[in-house]
Amino acid sequence: MKWKTNAPIWLLLFVVGCQSPNMTGGASDKESAAQVNAVVSGTLAPVYAPLAEQIVQDFALARREGLGLDVGGGPGALTVELAKRSQLYWVDVDINRNHLTTLADRAKAAGVADRVGFLGADVQALPFCDGVADVIVSRGSYHFWADTKKGFAEIWRVLKPGGVAYIGRGFSRDLPLDVARSIREKQGSQMQYDRSEHAALLRRIMKELGISNHKLHLPNPPDGSDINYGIWIEFHKPAN
Ligand SMILES: C[S@@+](CC[C@H](N)C(=O)[O-])C[C@H]1O[C@@H](n2cnc3c(N)ncnc32)[C@H](O)[C@@H]1O
Repeated sequence: MKWKTNAPIWLLLFVVGCQSPNMTGGASDKESAAQVNAVVSGTLAPVYAPLAEQIVQDFALARREGLGLDVGGGPGALTVELAKRSQLYWVDVDINRNHLTTLADRAKAAGVADRVGFLGADVQALPFCDGVADVIVSRGSYHFWADTKKGFAEIWRVLKPGGVAYIGRGFSRDLPLDVARSIREKQGSQMQYDRSEHAALLRRIMKELGISNHKLHLPNPPDGSDINYGIWIEFHKPAN
């Protein structure tokens, strides 16, 4: 029974293990995964439920079935919150395989292990056929991709006609101000970046990839203060 519950997660890793022999997950990857998980489970913990709620509502995912990908999902906090709120099967696609067990534990604790999987893969070479994913999300990852445009091109290729992608960094637009402020204070200077530079990059990539149906989101705090709520881009692939 236990094996059955975790079967999708382990099966996916095995399949990818056969296809990507160069991603072995060394000691530094282990440390990096542990560090990411500490932040995700600590400072950033309040971010994921409201963000998943916003994504599910904005894109009417509550009753949608099919495949969702969380690219660079890390320990899978957003992946699992999305699985809790939709009928989609969610796969956390992350270059660092050491996130697998944390994701598996998180999915099991939330009662969604039968609809959550993990795939160790680089966004720049997604091991999926064209047009298979109904929804693709990614939080806090695109700025780590060596070739950002290639990552977005792969997401576009894998997105199903009629599908939607929501890629970015930061918070949902309705995250309470005191929560957002507290997170930014704890993060210190490491999360100070120029949103206009990121906006220019994302717009340029959309233009170069010929993705016309896109919308940039720059959520702002309700009090007009300068707390950085992040930057997101939403894009839709036309239905056939
Ligand atoms: C800051 S963590 C964010 C984790 C998670 N999305 C979250 O918001 O909690 C960035 C994640 O992106 C992953 N990542 C970085 N480069 C990647 C790539 N080229 N392909 C896939 N994942 C990547 C890292 O391994 C890491 O788990």
